Amino acid sequence: MTTAARPTHVEARVEIGSEDDAETGVEARVEAGAEARVEARVEAGVEAGVGRTALLVAAARAIETHRADALARDPYAEHFVRAAAASATWPVRPADVPGGDADPLWGRLGRYFALRTRAFDDFLLDRAAAGVRQIALLGAGLDTRALRLAWPPGTAVYELDRPAVLTFKHRVLDSIAPTPNPAHRADDRATPKAARRGDGRTAANAVRRGDDRAVPNVARRGDDRIAANAVSRGDDRAVPNVARHDDDGPDAVRRPVAVDLADDWARPLLAAGFDPAAPTAWLAEGLLLYLSRAAERRLIAAVDDLSAPGSALAYEAKVGFESGKIRANPVYTAARERVGVDLLALFDAEPRPDSAADLTARGWTTTVRTPFDFTRRHGRGPLPEPDDALAANRWTFAEKPAP
Ligand SMILES: C[S@@+](CC[C@H](N)C(=O)[O-])C[C@H]1O[C@@H](n2cnc3c(N)ncnc32)[C@H](O)[C@@H]1O
Repeated sequence: MTTAARPTHVEARVEIGSEDDAETGVEARVEAGAEARVEARVEAGVEAGVGRTALLVAAARAIETHRADALARDPYAEHFVRAAAASATWPVRPADVPGGDADPLWGRLGRYFALRTRAFDDFLLDRAAAGVRQIALLGAGLDTRALRLAWPPGTAVYELDRPAVLTFKHRVLDSIAPTPNPAHRADDRATPKAARRGDGRTAANAVRRGDDRAVPNVARRGDDRIAANAVSRGDDRAVPNVARHDDDGPDAVRRPVAVDLADDWARPLLAAGFDPAAPTAWLAEGLLLYLSRAAERRLIAAVDDLSAPGSALAYEAKVGFESGKIRANPVYTAARERVGVDLLALFDAEPRPDSAADLTARGWTTTVRTPFDFTRRHGRGPLPEPDDALAANRWTFAEKPAP
């Protein structure tokens, strides 16, 4: 395992001051002497509010990665955790968690996140095995599926999240050494079935970045909009890496799209190269809980509008109302008191919409599962407990039938 270099002000200045400011949505202009202020604002994007939840999930994935019975492995996760001041001292290995699985935060909630990662890894790889080549991760956070799973050639993975989260993510990925793709390990029983069909190619630096080593920094992020700008300037090195895919290259093209998912995100997604005529596997993992009722309904409508027949969507939601006893569950209090993630304050307080019913009304087929179904399937993960903070969680799998 390589060690992540801590980001510096210089790296942040390059990131912010580069020509992709408009793409990332970073509002600040870098002026002489303003670097520290600007960096603080960018860091706040991942370290505060809902951004910090992405670090929380990354820490859970880091711990899971080092378990003998890991449900999923993410060699990048600990680098993100170590690179942000807010999370630099959080655990990243099972040995860092004295209570083990009994610890409400890193044991129970951590294993929940690992199980969720695995269930949605399997969903996406299953859709890829069925022929889908367009993946859209809504609220991708610090997820590295584009880099750590074995995708069929020609797969594009769109990562949609807030500008500051993606800026942090790129900075960390740019700061670390090459990391082998765990999906290419022949002996990895924890790797999902479709990933095990990987051909053993070793991931290189270029795979981690989602692009070709010869491509300049702005294009390494796989953002067609950035590439298109460079192409219009006559810089052919910035051609999106989908055209460069070969046996030494990445399994998938990674295309970050910096957006507010409560706003109009369809246009930026289309501008990034998304093809609404091709079937898509969508994932909204750990996202809808933070959106208002109206924003969730708009998001479902947009997914439907952008989905060709044969598309599929998986998402996490909560049903019903969580009582005072459930809200006092140690999972919530430990997250708030020990790592400063106040999930109950971040969750939208409105009654949740019934998106499964909404999708059914739009002609999709839906299957709603509890996380515990997957615990039983895999033989590990959280099981129900009294006044359970996970009891209302549902994972829905929906398909838009092909004609
Ligand atoms: C709990 S994290 C989950 C990240 C990722 N899916 C994972 O499981 O690792 C929630 C993510 O949703 C993103 N998010 C929340 N509200 C958003 C919004 N309105 N627009 C874009 N992203 C948002 C956050 O920035 C964060 O990265």
